[in-house]
Parts: sequence; C-alpha cells; structure tokens
Amino acid sequence: MFDTLARQPDDPLLALIGLFRMDERPGKADLGVGVYRDETGRTPIFRAVKAAEKRLLETQDTKAYVGPEGDLVFLDHLWTLVGGDVVERSHVAGVQTPGGSGALRLAADLIKRMGGARIWLGLPSWPNHAPIFKAAGLEIATYEFFDIPSQSVLFDNVVQTFEGARAGDAVLLHASCHNPTGGVLSQPQWLEIAALAAERGLLPLVDLAYQGFGRGLDPDVAGLRHLLTVVPEALVAVSCSKSFGLYRERTGAIFAPTTSPVAADVVRSNLAGLARTSYSMPPDHGAAVVCTILSDPALARDWAEELEGMRQRMTGIRRALAEGLRTRWQSLGAIADQEGMFSMLPLTQAEVLRLRTEHGIYMPGSGRINIAGLKTTEVADVVGKFMSL
Ligand code: LMR
Repeated sequence: MFDTLARQPDDPLLALIGLFRMDERPGKADLGVGVYRDETGRTPIFRAVKAAEKRLLETQDTKAYVGPEGDLVFLDHLWTLVGGDVVERSHVAGVQTPGGSGALRLAADLIKRMGGARIWLGLPSWPNHAPIFKAAGLEIATYEFFDIPSQSVLFDNVVQTFEGARAGDAVLLHASCHNPTGGVLSQPQWLEIAALAAERGLLPLVDLAYQGFGRGLDPDVAGLRHLLTVVPEALVAVSCSKSFGLYRERTGAIFAPTTSPVAADVVRSNLAGLARTSYSMPPDHGAAVVCTILSDPALARDWAEELEGMRQRMTGIRRALAEGLRTRWQSLGAIADQEGMFSMLPLTQAEVLRLRTEHGIYMPGSGRINIAGLKTTEVADVVGKFMSL
C-alpha cells in the first residue's frame, strides 16, 4: 500500500542544516535556518533558562499530563508579555502549543472550522506559512508585501488588499521582525491596518516569533497591541523558540482575544478540542521553563538583559553588512534599518548556489540571509564574497 505514495521533496530550508554540517571548509558561513548564534558561533542557552531548568529538576514532582490547554500559569505570564493589559484578561482564550508552528496550525484549523476559509498572505512570507494553511484546508490568497530590489514594504498593496477583502477573511500579519524580509511597518501604518481590519470585518492572525529581536520587548508588540485595541477579535500565534532560545523544546501558544468571557470560553474549548485530535497535549518542559522565568522577577530581568544583548549584536551586524553591501547595491543600505534575524538579498538562485559551492555560504534559494548567523569578524569576508558575484 505504501507504493501509492510519491516521494516528497525534503524541506529545502531545513535541508541546509545537513548540507552545512557536511561542508568541511574552514571559512564556511551558515546564513540559512533562523537560529541565533553568538560571536563564537554557538546557539547559547540563556542563563535564565539554565537556572530555571536546575530549579525544575529539583522541584518538579510529576510528569503527569498537562492537559490539552497546557499550563494556565504559563499562558497567563506569556500573554502579559505579549498583550500587556490592552485586552480584558477574561476575554482572552489561550492554549499552549508545540512551538509557533503548532500555534499557526491550530489557528488555521480554527479558521477552517469557523467557515472563514480564506486567508490573505503577503509575499514573500515564512516558507511554511502557506503549507500550514493549505494543510488545514484554507484557501490562500496572496499579494506582494515587499519589493526586494528597492527593499521597501509595499504598503499600498496592504491597504488595497484589506480594502478588497471580504468580511470574515483572515489576514496574516507579522507582529515585527518580518520573516523573511526584515521589512518594518511604522506605527502610523499599524494604525491604518488596524482601522481597516476593523472596518472591513477581517480576522487578523498575527505571527509573533521574534519578540525582543527587533526594537525591544515592548516596541516589538506596539503595533499588535494597538491592533488589539481596535479589532474585536484576533488570533495571535506566539513562539518562544527565538525569544527564549528554546527551539527544540517546541514552546508556544495560540491566543484569541475575544469580546466576552463567554466567547473566550467557546474559542478555548474549540482550540483545546483541535489540539486533542492532533497531538492531544503539548510538551511541558519549555513552557515550564518560560513560566519559571517569567514568574521570578530576578530571572525575568536576567533573561531580558541577555535578550537585549543579542538584539544589539544583531543590530551591529546589520549596520556592518549594510555599510559593505550598499557599495554594490545601494538599496541594501536599508538592511541597517530593518529588524529581526532576516533580510532578503536581490540574488538569483544560480548566485545563491554559487555562493554555496564556491564560497561555503549557505542560504535558501530565495536569497534570505540570517543576520544572526554571522560573527562580526566574518562580515567583511562574507561581504567580499557577495561582491565577487
Ligand atoms: C526559519 O524561518 O528559518 C525558522 O523559523 C525555522 C523554521 O522552522 O523554518
């Protein structure tokens, strides 16, 4: 019976991990999968994570199931970090998920169940957005969000899309640190988007995977928080992979700000039911770590400080890269003002392949680079290799 299956292509982004590992050249650089690395090339475990893990090891007294909704205290702390107090707490439904991808999938399943089967996706976007929505049975409608040659957000397209969308349509938004472009929406643009979404009866699905990697913990959710004061309902998919460095622990949550405690309970029950039929219950460890950190002011302070150090390192790399690359591509000076881990270079697939084979520089065929994969000492060398194309 398995012979009815066709071989599927490997995920091209994740395949880069293996290819990079196998490359034995000393000057190789991994600008592929979105994982933060420090100046020594390591993906560090946050000091606060280590401390929380030690504490858990000593105090945790059971491994019994956490239930389909996960840990309610974790959810409460995480929502405070994300939404602050802009939405009445009893109006917010929350369910712990296996990473941000799990949150996006539950959101998509919920949208499908609501009958609002269409979602608008600005391109380019994270390469797994469309496959997740498609797997949930949603119709995907796309528009151009970002122009790579000029490195600019095509805000007029966002406005036109929102104006032309049908009431009940979902719209995917990146809260900050746009993956893959680093393109930034200004606060006035968020105000316009929020007003349009409310006026047109659209359901925003906001992907928040890099809080603290852009302008800072609060600035990175300022647009989202404004949106939540204007639209009656939304979905917010949160990943703790990058912000807490918990990639492999699969830690995240889906939140749904609603209009009443009763509505929140209905949404929560649907999300929990969808989780139950998919993976039953979320993994515990990462969420227990985040919960331990956020419920201890000293640990939370230490975590935020370390995160801020990472952010500043990425900002420095951005400036150095922009400075070098603008001498050949003037528009790439914009990389300095973009935010998060990623930017898109105006490269052809053939050029991306040449960088890999001739220079050991690994990046996806789209031309996306992971800024956080570079050490300061490597920037000049990598820029030189880009220039040699
Ligand atoms: C990325 O975009 O590189 C990360 O979010 C990792 C992933 O799962 O794709």
